[in-house]
Amino acid sequence: MVGSLRSTIRRSDDPPIRQGEFVANSFDVIVLGGGPAGYILGLSTAVVEQDKLGGVCVNIGCIPTKALLHSAYIASILKESKEFGVEVSNIKTDYGVAMKRSRRVSDQNSKGVEFLMKKHKITVIKGTGVVQPGKKVKVGSDVHEAKKAVVIATGSRVKGIPQIGLEINKTTVISSDEALLLERVPDTLAIIGAGAVGMEFADIFQAFGVKVTLIEALPRILPIEDAESSDVLAKSYRKRGIDVIAGAKVTKATLGKDKVTLDIETGGGGEKKQVTAGAVLMAAGRAVNTENIGLKECGIQLTDRGFIKVDKNLQTTAPGYYAIGDVAGPPMLAHKGFREGAVVAEIIAGQKPHPIKYDNVPSVTYCHPEVASIGLTEDQCKEKKLDYVAGKFPFSANGRARGTGETEGFVKILRDKKYGEILGAHIVGAHASEMIHELAVARENEYTVEEVDLAIHAHPTMSEAVGEAALDSLGRVLHI
Ligand code: NAI
Repeated sequence: MVGSLRSTIRRSDDPPIRQGEFVANSFDVIVLGGGPAGYILGLSTAVVEQDKLGGVCVNIGCIPTKALLHSAYIASILKESKEFGVEVSNIKTDYGVAMKRSRRVSDQNSKGVEFLMKKHKITVIKGTGVVQPGKKVKVGSDVHEAKKAVVIATGSRVKGIPQIGLEINKTTVISSDEALLLERVPDTLAIIGAGAVGMEFADIFQAFGVKVTLIEALPRILPIEDAESSDVLAKSYRKRGIDVIAGAKVTKATLGKDKVTLDIETGGGGEKKQVTAGAVLMAAGRAVNTENIGLKECGIQLTDRGFIKVDKNLQTTAPGYYAIGDVAGPPMLAHKGFREGAVVAEIIAGQKPHPIKYDNVPSVTYCHPEVASIGLTEDQCKEKKLDYVAGKFPFSANGRARGTGETEGFVKILRDKKYGEILGAHIVGAHASEMIHELAVARENEYTVEEVDLAIHAHPTMSEAVGEAALDSLGRVLHI
């Protein structure tokens, strides 16, 4: 595949076309970072990438974790299959096999991105790029020039907490990068942070027989989600044998040869305990890749939180330089980066794209049960003193969910009392990641809850619970 792409891929160690200060190549647009960047409409474009195309999402993020989560799902349904009239004896799990499958899935996706680059005649420059004044990007000794714009899409990386002794050492203190490549699982694992990464890996490792302790500093796991979603997940995880410790501060880590001991304070420092595990997985957030890429020299400023400062058109403080994806600010989600890429492409091509509504970016955690949401949480509605009503429908009352035995969770719709606006929507349950989009379309188009109810939901489907939650918020729920 790579061989067939030689005509379009240049490597930083390839002989430059012209050396030194001369411009090696000229494009309309140069994108720094080969993650979910855009196809630049009708413009000659180059993408500079030091590693595999597809970025974190395709290679060490979204795609391989979803493959592993599906392995975990198979392991857990097989354990209960007898009830469904399917008896399977001697169930064995092998993380190495699941890992290798997930790598194949990732590689297939990365090759897919390579294919798309070729199809859209985008030049891929292999190497580490540094932006330079005058809309230039230096890769090795080559300097490439962008006639219209440079787009910075360098993404983010995992981070440890070195101040308490938790520097990622890739053996006893690991990140998702290493977790995705393990041949064997440890017997015990402490996961620090119960955001999307922590939740998804707790699910995966527990299904592969690991004794997991999930530690979250804030008072509840999945703290950015609605409190009721966190409660369902905490209950579900505890039932599966995951030790969930929320409101917990890790004060010290002591690293042994093949174990780590964590000193933890809970209850506002009132209670102290120790957790010992064969390994610690750091899932306490990511750091953006803004260092050593020439930002300062180009006059590109950062925000107080370290993201690249952008205006509503995603242009940085230096005209002609744009930033998209994780480096441009939260939420650090692939689909937000995708959309920003498309919007910036349209802006550079002189079009007027539909502006991104950042409060309409759906959030999905692909653990089991899945958690998906859009808009405000109920606590945020209360903080904003909004006059709302919460409509709710549990999957335990949904025929399709009963049929598959996946009755955990609910759909909750927060409806503005006066105008019927969907202030927020929260789904916990099987396929929540798919069901949320009905509400994403509704919010983007400013449909009311009444209009969601007008849509006929096929029977029997999990999506009927969306219609029922809408009805509940109108005081007309039918099937409960
Ligand atoms: P995160 O910021 O979403 O969650 C980190 C969690 O760690 C927070 O709940 C935080 O309170 C907690 N934490 C921080 N310091 C801690 C400490 N010292 N002790 C205990 N807990 C501590 O970050 P995460 O999960 O690492 O994900 C990184 C980014 O990648 C996020 O923006 C996330 O949304 C995104 N991502 C999205 C996925 C998805 O959409 N399904 C999957 C994986 C990552």
